[in-house]
Amino acid sequence: MADTFDLIVIGSGPGGYVCAIKAAQLGLKVACVEKRETLGGTCLNIGCIPSKALLQSSENFHDAATSFADHGVMIAGITLDLAKMHARKRDVVEANTKGVEFLFRKNKVTWLKGEGRILSTGRVSVAGTEYETKSIVIATGSESTPLPGVPVDETRIVTSTGALELSEVPKRLVVIGAGVIGLELGSVWHRLGAEVTVIEYLPRIVPTLDADVAKDFMRILEKQGLKFRLGSKVTRAMTGESGVTLMVEPAKGGEAETIEADVVLLAIGRRVFVDGLGLTEAGVQLDERGRVWTDDHYATNVPGIYAIGDVRIGPMLAHKAEDEGVAIAEILAGQAGHVNYGAIPSVIYTWPEVASVGKSEDELKAEGVAYTSGKFPFTANGRARAMGNTDGYVKLLADKTTDKLLGAHIIGPDAGTLIAELVTAIEFGASAEDVSRICHAHPTLSEAVKEAAFAVEGHAIHM
Ligand code: FAD
Ligand code: NAI
Repeated sequence: MADTFDLIVIGSGPGGYVCAIKAAQLGLKVACVEKRETLGGTCLNIGCIPSKALLQSSENFHDAATSFADHGVMIAGITLDLAKMHARKRDVVEANTKGVEFLFRKNKVTWLKGEGRILSTGRVSVAGTEYETKSIVIATGSESTPLPGVPVDETRIVTSTGALELSEVPKRLVVIGAGVIGLELGSVWHRLGAEVTVIEYLPRIVPTLDADVAKDFMRILEKQGLKFRLGSKVTRAMTGESGVTLMVEPAKGGEAETIEADVVLLAIGRRVFVDGLGLTEAGVQLDERGRVWTDDHYATNVPGIYAIGDVRIGPMLAHKAEDEGVAIAEILAGQAGHVNYGAIPSVIYTWPEVASVGKSEDELKAEGVAYTSGKFPFTANGRARAMGNTDGYVKLLADKTTDKLLGAHIIGPDAGTLIAELVTAIEFGASAEDVSRICHAHPTLSEAVKEAAFAVEGHAIHM
C-alpha cells in the first residue's frame, strides 16, 4: 500500500514548494509532486533565477565596457565569454534548486517524482502509483502563450526558455511583446551587443504599468538603443537558412511589411498549464480565461482540491504564488491564511529597474478617487549622482482627503529594493506624511522616497 498524506501538492514552483514546506512546518504530512528533474518550477529553473543571473552578468559586461571609464576605471580589450556566463547562470540555478531539495529533506516533505494526475477528491496517481491524501493543492504554473503563424523551435524563434540559452549573441533580435519578459531579456541581449527591436500590439509598453512611468521607461530604453514599433502585429514568421522573416502589420490593419531577424523572442504573455492533470475527469472547473476557478480561500468547486499561483486569478508572480502557498497551508492547518492583494509589488529588473505597488494614476482616475501625487527625481539625489545613475524618479499617490498612500511607482536604480518600504507602508495603511517623517539614512537612494512623500504635501526639500 502506497503512503497516505494529509496534503499532496502538485507542482514544486514557488507556490508549490513554499506551500509544502509551510504545511509540513505546521504539522501536516506532506508530499510534493514534480515531474521536472529538479525542484523549483519555472521560477528557479527557467524563469526568475536564470534571467536575473543573465541580467546581472550582462549589466556587469555593459558597465565595464561603457560606464567604468566615467569613474576613471580604464579597462582595455574587454571581451565576452558567453559560455562562461551561461555556466555561471547554471551554477546559480543549481544552487537554488538543490536548496529546495535540502529544505524538503529538512522539513520532511516527500518528493514524489513524476507527473501527477488527480483521480478524484483524495486520490492522486504519480508514475503508476496511487496515493491517498486529505487535501490536494494544484500548483502547476504556466507556460508561454503561442502565437498562430509564429512557430517556436527554441533556436531561431524562441520563448523565454530558449532566450536564456542562446549560444551566440544574435546580430538582430526581434522581440514580440513589450512586456516584462520582452524588456528584461531584450535588455540582456542588447547589453551583450544585439540590435534589438521590440514589436508591441498596443500603443504603449508594459500595459500593467502606470502610463506616465511606462512612457518615461520607454524613453530611457530608447536612449539606451532599444527600438520600438508600437501598435504593430506580427502575422507570420518564416524561418530560413540565415534567419527569420517576419510579416508585420499595423495593429488596426493596413499595409504589411517584412522585418528580418536572426532570432525572434516570442513574449506575448503566459497561460495556465494544467495539461495531463485530469481536471476534466475530476470535475474541477476553469474560469472564463482558462484559469482554475477558486473561491477567495483557494478552494476549487471540488471539495478537498485547492489551487494557488499562476494557475489561478491574479498576477503571474513568484512572490504572489509563495504568499498563496503560505496562506493555503495555514488554512489547511486550521489557521487564518490571508494575502493582501492590494500590496503585491511588481518589479521589472531592467536598468533602470521599474517597481510598483498599489494603484496607478490611471486606475485612480477610472475609480473616481481624488488623489494627490508627489514626484522626486534621482537627478536630485546625492547618492544617485555619486553612483552615476540618475535616470528616473519616485512617484507617490495618496488620497486627497486622508493622505493615505494608495500607490507607489519607482523607476530608477535599485527600484526593486526601494519599493519594499512602500509595500510596508501600504500594508500598514500609512499616509504620505508618515513616510516623510521616517528618518532615512544619508546618502541613500531611499531619501528619494522620503522626498517624494514631502512632494505629496507640496514641497520636497531638495528640489
Ligand atoms: P511554476 O513555477 O510554473 O511551477 C509549476 C511546476 O509544476 C513546474 O515545475 C512543473 O514542471 C510542475 N508541473 C506541472 N504539471 C505537473 C504535473 N501534472 N505533475 C507534476 N508536476 C507538474 N516572477 C517574479 O515574481 N519575479 C521575476 O523576476 C520573474 N521572472 C520571470 C522570468 C521568466 C523568464 C519567466 C518565464 C517567469 C518569471 N516570473 C517571475 C514568473 C514566475 O516564474 C511565476 O509567476 C512563478 O514561477 C509561478 O509559480 P507557480 O508555483 O505557480 O508555478
Ligand atoms: P506580459 O503580459 O508582461 O507582456 C506581454 C506583452 O505582449 C503585452 O505588452 C501585450 O500587449 C503584448 N502582446 C500581446 N499579444 C501580442 C501580439 N500578438 N503582438 C505583439 N504584442 C503582443 O507577458 P510576458 O512578457 O510574456 O511575461 C509573462 C509574465 O511572466 C509576466 O506578465 C509576469 O507575470 C511574469 N514575469 C515576471 C517578471 C518579473 O516579475 N520581473 C519577469 C518575467 C516574467
